[in-house]
Amino acid sequence: MIKPMRIGLIVLSAAVLQACWEAPPMDSEQSGFRGTGMLQTTNPDVVDPILADNVLPEPIAAVPVVEGGPTAGQIYQNVQVLGDLSVAEFARTMAAITAWVSPEQGCAYCHEGGNFAEDKLYTKMVSRRMMEMTMEINTQWSSHVGDTGVTCLTCHRGNNVPEYIWFEQDGPPTAGGISAKGYQQNHAAMNVGSTSMLSDPFSKYLTTDPAPIRVISQTALPQAGDARHMSSTQATENTYSLMFHMSEGLGVNCTYCHNTRAFTSWEQSPPARVTAWHGLQMVSSLNDEYLEPLGPTYPPHRLGPLGDAPKTNCTTCHQNVNKPFAGASMLDDYPIWRPDE
Ligand code: HEC
Ligand code: HEC
Ligand code: HEC
Ligand code: HEC
Repeated sequence: MIKPMRIGLIVLSAAVLQACWEAPPMDSEQSGFRGTGMLQTTNPDVVDPILADNVLPEPIAAVPVVEGGPTAGQIYQNVQVLGDLSVAEFARTMAAITAWVSPEQGCAYCHEGGNFAEDKLYTKMVSRRMMEMTMEINTQWSSHVGDTGVTCLTCHRGNNVPEYIWFEQDGPPTAGGISAKGYQQNHAAMNVGSTSMLSDPFSKYLTTDPAPIRVISQTALPQAGDARHMSSTQATENTYSLMFHMSEGLGVNCTYCHNTRAFTSWEQSPPARVTAWHGLQMVSSLNDEYLEPLGPTYPPHRLGPLGDAPKTNCTTCHQNVNKPFAGASMLDDYPIWRPDE
């Protein structure tokens, strides 16, 4: 006879273990040639709540433009980026960024004491650069963001600091002296799909002068100076670490971008891999040209453990969906973020 306590234990362990697997039914969709295992497997219980979180808010009603009316640049004292907007559209834009970035603190998050022209708060200085960055993404990186584009909301989603950012890191502290260093390995890291491989693949691949993303040398012997012909075990682990981040950040399997019988082959890869390649170039460039140089503008408590500025990776925009906001665009409602069109 099983004692009640044992039954209790069995029920308890079942409940605990339940958290370790995803209950069926799963959905799967063919994403490549028949018979090649090219399937996207998703769990509606996981995906549906994420998609429900990725619905755009109603746009703020547009204000009719008065022909020949003054522009913000003519009326205000210190407008360097948004000067061509009509005064009414400028006010609407301020209201929109407040809702996207600082709904709780309001205008005061970037403007102190009612003097709107003053560049006193770091948040205002950072925002001005963010405005330029947003316009750059939408005009220079259509190879990645297409016509959909982004606004402040894509990354911020109502938060002062976007939910997914990254800093350079050295891995957890190890004992001093000659004890082995972890090199960021052998501890599970959320950034890289809870694997215990390199926990910061970002400093290698997503900033200035990114390392080649390679596991396979294209020739039998290495050819010095040509990255396509050199690879190492470490580069392989690092590449996989980055790939886990990309899969996790987009909420997709490896087969979304690869035919897994030949990861390296572009001919056999779905088109999404090309979009991803442009994304890699875009993210390195944004970190290099916009986010990294903001370091001196931030107060010390916003910097990382090694003193670098907060930066973006794939998850900052994607937030576990293959297209941010499931591919819905805000640019028709807020055309200022894609100027010259
Ligand atoms: C997240 C930061 C941020 C928030 C929140 C914000 N602003 Fe601004 N504001 C800016 C930036 C940056 C500029 C300068 C824009 C430029 O240089 O083109 C600016 C400029 C202005 C100016 C022009 C001042 C001048 O004379 O140069 C006014 C007026 C203004 N904001 C009003 C508001 C109002 C009203 C709110 C709240 C509804 C608001 N702002 C919320 C960042 C912000
Ligand atoms: C590609 C993603 C991305 C976009 C688009 C973006 N931001 Fe940011 N933003 C960031 C990151 C990353 C940081 C650094 C987070 C931190 O401060 O720790 C940041 C920081 C900020 C901060 C400083 C917050 C703080 O408290 O330190 C402000 C203010 C801000 N952004 C405003 C804006 C505005 C306004 C826009 C749109 C014009 C915008 N951002 C668009 C990624 C983005
Ligand atoms: C969102 C698209 C995307 C996803 C998802 C993705 N990859 Fe990749 N992968 C790429 C791109 C793009 C490259 C090429 C980068 C380059 O050449 O700079 C690449 C390169 C690779 C390489 C290096 C191939 C070589 O030529 O040496 C390997 C291995 C790899 N991926 C494995 C994986 C694995 C394993 C997964 C799942 C955990 C995965 N990828 C998920 C887009 C993706
Ligand atoms: C600045 C925000 C932003 C960042 C950062 C970003 N993406 Fe994207 N990405 C987008 C937008 C917006 C789209 C939708 C484009 C469209 O609708 O055509 C997209 C589309 C994609 C697609 C195509 C999806 C499909 O189903 O066709 C892939 C793949 C992708 N991104 C991969 C990546 C990877 C990998 C990274 C990191 C290296 C990344 N993205 C970083 C904004 C971003």
